[in-house]
Amino acid sequence: MQDVTGKTAFITGGAHGVGYGMAHAFLEAGMNVVIGDIRGDALEAAVRRLGKIASPVHGIRVDITDRDAMARAADEAEASFGKVHVLCNNAGINVFGPIDEASYDDWDWLMDVNLNAVFNGIKSFLPKIKAHGEGGHIINTASMASLVSGPGAGIYTAAKFAVRGFSECLWYNLVPQGIGVSVVCPGLVNSNIHHSEELRPDSRKNVGHPQDAGFVSRLEQIQPLGMDPLEMGAKILRGLKRGDLYIMTHPEHKDEVARDFAEILAAFPDEPADPKRLEVEHMRQKMKYDIKNKYSAAHDD
Ligand SMILES: NC(=O)c1ccc[n+]([C@@H]2O[C@H](COP(=O)([O-])OP(=O)(O)OC[C@H]3O[C@@H](n4cnc5c(N)ncnc54)[C@H](O)[C@@H]3O)[C@@H](O)[C@H]2O)c1
Repeated sequence: MQDVTGKTAFITGGAHGVGYGMAHAFLEAGMNVVIGDIRGDALEAAVRRLGKIASPVHGIRVDITDRDAMARAADEAEASFGKVHVLCNNAGINVFGPIDEASYDDWDWLMDVNLNAVFNGIKSFLPKIKAHGEGGHIINTASMASLVSGPGAGIYTAAKFAVRGFSECLWYNLVPQGIGVSVVCPGLVNSNIHHSEELRPDSRKNVGHPQDAGFVSRLEQIQPLGMDPLEMGAKILRGLKRGDLYIMTHPEHKDEVARDFAEILAAFPDEPADPKRLEVEHMRQKMKYDIKNKYSAAHDD
């Protein structure tokens, strides 16, 4: 979407962090922005701050796990600015702990917000984007945890790996219809995500691995070392304009990704592939690469 001026974006989790950074960058680029967030006070404060930029902004209090509320939010966003062109499924939460000690409540809450709500966003907004026919773009915020893993955040990692797979598949489906898809894979961002526990709903109160005060205070020290959300917003705007499938923001993770992917490649059996199976796979790959070759964004920088 090279020309974003006058286009409308709906951003979930826009009251803080990455979503706020996106809203800031999009407004400065002349877009209309609707931010949705579950935190009412923070939403109002963000709308007030963003309102100082000379482009229109509107806030909607919404829980992205509530499908009816998301459908209403899509109607309200459309009523506010006529058409929505860009949907940013960005809101997310994290709780730390070994996955073998997680409770059903931990699993359901993290999956509902970090994965299922991405599908809720698609179901609520995509039919409207398709219907106006002016093209559009979906931006899903995954994480570096959609590419690399570790011992500390298993459910989050499972959800983010899924958001990345979801986004890649959606790219093949939508790009031929004139709608782009990007997946953002940030490393550490200076955001509010370490306060996710504040948002745990009453129905999900059974915590599998309670966090001790020492761990929480370490998070308080680490989180501010993260990238400025405004820098995130600028990088995401650039990816939107270029039509990038992958928006990578943190160079410090490149070596780890290379090392982990090398381990996967090294695990393949060192033997010739079966020719009949290979033929089937080549047919499948042709469908995929035909789309890639035709629609991949071309840019030199
Ligand atoms: N902060 C990081 O280091 C980091 C790293 C990688 C990926 N991410 C991803 O970036 C995205 C944004 O997170 P952030 O770091 O800006 O966190 P943040 O907590 O600063 O902002 C997230 C916003 O989402 C809102 N939210 C949470 N649950 C919601 C719900 N059910 N309905 C509506 N709104 C809800 C929160 O109120 C908050 O304002 C998330 O998807 C997160 O996983 C963050």
